[in-house]
Amino acid sequence: MDKTFRIAPSILSANFAKLGQEIADVIKSGTDIVHFDVMDNHYVPNLTIGPLVCEAIRPVTDAIIDVHLMVKPVDRIIPDFAKAGANIITFHPEGSDHIDRSLSLVRDSGCKSGLVFNPATPLDYLDHVMDKIDMILLMSVNPGFGGQKFIPETLNKLRIARQKIDAYYEKTGRQIWLEVDGGVNANNIAEIAKAGADTFVAGSAIFGAGKDTDPNHYDTVVKSLRASLATV
Ligand code: DX5
Ligand code: ZN
Repeated sequence: MDKTFRIAPSILSANFAKLGQEIADVIKSGTDIVHFDVMDNHYVPNLTIGPLVCEAIRPVTDAIIDVHLMVKPVDRIIPDFAKAGANIITFHPEGSDHIDRSLSLVRDSGCKSGLVFNPATPLDYLDHVMDKIDMILLMSVNPGFGGQKFIPETLNKLRIARQKIDAYYEKTGRQIWLEVDGGVNANNIAEIAKAGADTFVAGSAIFGAGKDTDPNHYDTVVKSLRASLATV
């Protein structure tokens, strides 16, 4: 089984005045995935970026673009993100009236698909759609804002999700990624990995404080995240 750990900087906390450069820099520092947070001021109380921005950053990087849709409804916008160069599109079950259909729409648009679980959303939604899922994303904060504190109950939920993924792998040989999103930093990432996550979103931990004083800030943070992961 693949035991790779992937780090996914959330560009929500990047400097939008120079987004292309921020992405190039943070990927060069040894991160793997661009985590792209889409908020609609309806499903979540915040408004961020859409397909136009995805299209604009696509030529800047070869890295995977992981679009996290915090929107309701989801179907209308899925093909637009696929056309804009997204590689993975995840959405919240609460954002779709027909989850199975929305997952198929993501795959049919040419992207990998995934479901996102809020802290209080049960994992039962997975039970009949595992074949249509490439990544499970567990929210370790309530969605809507960067810079919140990691909710410790997520560790229990990660263990349960990991069991489901491993059982599915035993049966099918197909690997599903397990991503965690919210409040991840160098102090808790090892514990989160031990609970079963393999893909780690980090926004404020990477793009936050330290940029002004350390010219190699991204290298420094990514190194410390990797050093913590190496202890797992
Ligand atoms: C929250 C977003 C997250 C967030 C992560 O709704 O989905 O991706 O930006 O930011 P940090 O790492 O600061 O919690
Ligand atoms: Zn996110």
